[in-house]
Amino acid sequence: QHTLKGKDVLSWVDFAPEDIEELLESAGQLKEKQKQGIPHQTLAGRSLGMIFENASTRTRVSFEVGMTQLGGHALFLSSADLQIGRGEPVQDTARALSRYVDAIMIRANDHEMVATLAENSDAPVINALTDDYHPCQALADMLTIQEHLGSLKGRKVVYVGDGNNVAHSLMVIAAKFGVHITLSTPVGYEGSREVWTKAKAIAAETGSKVEHVTDPNEAVQHADVVYTDVWVSMGAEKEKDTRNWAFEPYQVNDALMAQANDEAIFMHCLPAHRGEEVSAGVIDGPRSVVFDQAENRLHVQKAILQAVVR
Ligand code: CP
Ligand code: NVA
Repeated sequence: QHTLKGKDVLSWVDFAPEDIEELLESAGQLKEKQKQGIPHQTLAGRSLGMIFENASTRTRVSFEVGMTQLGGHALFLSSADLQIGRGEPVQDTARALSRYVDAIMIRANDHEMVATLAENSDAPVINALTDDYHPCQALADMLTIQEHLGSLKGRKVVYVGDGNNVAHSLMVIAAKFGVHITLSTPVGYEGSREVWTKAKAIAAETGSKVEHVTDPNEAVQHADVVYTDVWVSMGAEKEKDTRNWAFEPYQVNDALMAQANDEAIFMHCLPAHRGEEVSAGVIDGPRSVVFDQAENRLHVQKAILQAVVR
């Protein structure tokens, strides 16, 4: 029988669309149970190790609370306080940790490091953001779009701003679900060529359109969703001035939202910078669903944990 038990979630690239759909369905059911107070302690006695190389508000709290709701336990492990911070090889960290915990969640800069951790861990590894991908965010975003718009296939999502980890994961998951995705970025910030190639290959199979449109006003025509993220991601702080200058024409504000569909929603993974990538009017306005996205991190991650823990 087909199962996701033991599978790593590093990106959605190597997942069948049906498997991602099933996770989404399971997330919806877990959300319903949580709202109705129906116990669902399917991971009683299980532990999740959470390694953080970088700051986090939503990811840390939603994973930790999610494990509690599933009857298990989560350990916060700052990489600065692990031996990994003093040079212990990631391979050894993976081997040792997987003798204790039933799953490992990691937020790190280097995606290859996370891949090495996963290769050497017997416990499934969940990517909680690298420079390349943010798969848990993308799954939460699909649940949020489904809840607000009623369907995914054939919808048009326009991501405006930096072609970063969040944009990459959105491209991949949109392509898997047959959602059309347009990235509107300044020249030089389109994102990874490798990810573009992968997303286009997936889209060719599902009937999704993956495209780049430099002009944000042109890009948001007929958009059902307008999405943005910070212009300066964790680790890119040195480039702040050049970036703020390059991205200025890409702010999501009322003028830009006015060119999308009348019913279009605004999305942002958070944390946000009002007055930079988004105006206060838009993110705090009636079309914004950013806190639904934040909430849905909890429900989708519970679905992932329940599916991959052996
Ligand atoms: N969206 C997101 O991952 O938020 P945190 O950085 O607060 O975890
Ligand atoms: N692109 C942002 C997302 C934060 C959740 C970053 O990498 O800092």
